[in-house]
Amino acid sequence: MENRRTIKSYVLRSGRFTQKQKEAYDNYSQDFCIDYQENLLSFKETFQNENEVILDIGFGMGDSVREISQAMPDKNFIGIEVHKPGVGALAFDLKDLNIKNAKIISYDAVEVVKNMIPDSSVGGFHIFFPDPWQKKKHNKRRLLNEEFIEILAGKLKVGGYIYVATDWADYAEQVLDLLSANKKLKNSTAGFAQRAPWRPITKFEKKGLTKNHNIYDIWFTKV
Ligand SMILES: C[S@@+](CC[C@H](N)C(=O)[O-])C[C@H]1O[C@@H](n2cnc3c(N)ncnc32)[C@H](O)[C@@H]1O
Repeated sequence: MENRRTIKSYVLRSGRFTQKQKEAYDNYSQDFCIDYQENLLSFKETFQNENEVILDIGFGMGDSVREISQAMPDKNFIGIEVHKPGVGALAFDLKDLNIKNAKIISYDAVEVVKNMIPDSSVGGFHIFFPDPWQKKKHNKRRLLNEEFIEILAGKLKVGGYIYVATDWADYAEQVLDLLSANKKLKNSTAGFAQRAPWRPITKFEKKGLTKNHNIYDIWFTKV
């Protein structure tokens, strides 16, 4: 257990900020970022309302948070990402587009979910194109493993969902098996799901598509 937690699902790249991202990171972080803390977060205090909260884990450059938060103004979104230029990019968009229903936590999502998110409180998790760690010896770095899925399931409300999209076939099969094996979760269809019409094409999906990869959508709900 302790050993598993020291294996991270990311490598912090020496972030190449564009000037726009850096300025947004420096100037807007205080408006949109919630500091990591080992205390449970109050969604009501954070958003000043009681709307359902959706977490987007590993949002990259923030395309999905930006698009979906605008399309669903009656839900709240928390994006979690360790890559600081992506945090700057999303902070810029939230400011520029005057988006009020999205916040950012820039920290390891495993720790954030475990320590900041109350049990049975989340309406949905979006995990779009998680790093595939495709070499066999790196598979153990994959974000979605049995332990993290159990943590995610515990944080969902009944009826809440986990929505994963990936362009790596073996990761898709692995996630399908892991989610199917979790007793708190139920597949919404047999096998892979249809793409939700509101899921935007993200930067990493575009990369997969240019390599002619198939895209796999996976949707489980908490029973
Ligand atoms: C392949 S990218 C996909 C980004 C985005 N979702 C997309 O579809 O374009 C995966 C992202 O997850 C982030 N990530 C990986 N593990 C993470 C963790 N434990 N906590 C927060 N972010 C993480 C990485 O920094 C990276 O930006």
